[in-house]
Amino acid sequence: MNALEVRGLVKHYPGVTALDGVDLAVRPNEVLGLAGENGAGKSTLLKALVGLVTPDAGTIHVRGEQVKLRSVVDAANHGIGMVFQEQSLVPNLTAAENIVLGSEGPAVRRGIYRWDVMRRLAQEQLDKIGSPIDPLARTDSLSFADRQMVEIAKVLRIEERSQHPPVVILDEPTSVLESKEIETLFAQIRRLREFATVIFVSHRLDEVLDVCDRVCVLRGGKSVGEVAAAGAVPRELHRMMIGSTGSDDHYHGSAATTVVEEQPRLSVRGLSGASFHDISFDVAPGEIVGIVGVHGSGREDVCRALFGAEPTTAGEIRMDGTRIDLPSTRAACAAGIGYVPAERKTEGMVGALSVAENMTLAKQQARCAGPFVAPKKQATLVDSWIRRLSIRTPGRDTPIQRLSGGNQQKVILARWLVAGDIRLLLLDHPTRGLDVGVRSEVYRLMRELAATGVATVLLGDSLEEAVGMADRILVMNDGRVATEVPCPTGAKPTPLDLVKEMV
Ligand SMILES: Nc1ncnc2c1ncn2[C@@H]1O[C@H](COP(=O)(O)OP(=O)(O)OP(=O)(O)O)[C@@H](O)[C@H]1O
Ligand SMILES: [Mg+2]
Repeated sequence: MNALEVRGLVKHYPGVTALDGVDLAVRPNEVLGLAGENGAGKSTLLKALVGLVTPDAGTIHVRGEQVKLRSVVDAANHGIGMVFQEQSLVPNLTAAENIVLGSEGPAVRRGIYRWDVMRRLAQEQLDKIGSPIDPLARTDSLSFADRQMVEIAKVLRIEERSQHPPVVILDEPTSVLESKEIETLFAQIRRLREFATVIFVSHRLDEVLDVCDRVCVLRGGKSVGEVAAAGAVPRELHRMMIGSTGSDDHYHGSAATTVVEEQPRLSVRGLSGASFHDISFDVAPGEIVGIVGVHGSGREDVCRALFGAEPTTAGEIRMDGTRIDLPSTRAACAAGIGYVPAERKTEGMVGALSVAENMTLAKQQARCAGPFVAPKKQATLVDSWIRRLSIRTPGRDTPIQRLSGGNQQKVILARWLVAGDIRLLLLDHPTRGLDVGVRSEVYRLMRELAATGVATVLLGDSLEEAVGMADRILVMNDGRVATEVPCPTGAKPTPLDLVKEMV
């Protein structure tokens, strides 16, 4: 008997059919992957399985019995729980409080916490996943990866509500993790399989094939096929996702950079801040420089400092020879620096504003008090980027919060491309959450921009991406530039070469 079965599930939103008759069967103790382009309906389907989305038609069966899931609690009572893409933990509470929150039971008596009970309950959950996290640690003192472990521990409490093996849903859990943390999570998922069923979503197809037993593919809200993971290759999945054959060279070769002896576009000298020290490097016009490093290497902070969004204690930054004020995002904007932050949810987007407004924010900022853009011209510009990045949205006036995660990312990315007069682009994980096809389009845009002389600093989502795109790679370690690796076309280092330098 299937652990879960979905038949003909339909969900309409104004102007969009998110689910268009999805069928899905999940077997007990399997790790099922769900793949599909941005906006294919993956998150909507999963939300329907935890009672957050009410389908317009179709049925859900749990272990053979038809159910109506009206809320998260309802779903939990049937043994289904989800680890959310945007973490749902309360930052100023301890791990233990977060784990028992919402189902305190004996941990609270007459409104008062019984810390010993709570600690024990939490420890039991953490033990299930073999996690060494201290239950009394404050959640905001934990790393992102550890917080995710706390979320998994919390979700496993559904075991106490239902006598059946739990179904644990993970929607893009790896998109913000570093490779080491991903390994830990995968070890965890393999462990979970011993006593639970897992549904896993990721845009990194090699990863999906690595951790899953079977992968189902959604396209335009419909189930379009499945593959057994063993022996399958990412290209097969991609072909199903888009319904045709995609190109294999995602990185579009390399920029034909003939680095001439000219003034660097960006010149950084002796830059220091809280988490980085004495950083010096140049980026030539048209050059793409990758910065790699493990979590905590300081590379994200350097990137933010270049945009004037992180305090510095020493050093200077020059754009085309002119020193810019630090720290000042205004000065950075005025100097033609564009920044795509990794945390686009918190740093990048204004949820209630429309796609068009979110896309043109930078244009207004960059020009500071510059010329007013005629609304009609602006609309044409926005529409052209919606097409170019195949942003799935009913229209340019739709609030951005109604878009799928990946499509929101595309809008924020487009913001800097729309801005036009950019001379240096700082890209912090620009392809996070994007499907393979869009990722490839973003790489092509990066090459195009480089060809027009835009300098780029890239913090890649993976080492492969850094090697594939960069002309030169800086390896950061403990807040310092440990080494510089040239990365010319035809003589690219392997990701493994880089790993050796990173530790
Ligand atoms: N609350 C909502 N209101 C309106 N439209 C929505 C809402 N949630 C999702 N949609 C639309 O439904 C479609 C499917 O979205 P969903 O989030 O399920 O995609 P996804 O496969 O998870 O994509 P991604 O890989 O980008 O996360 C999208 O076109 C999206 O814009
Ligand atoms: Mg999604």
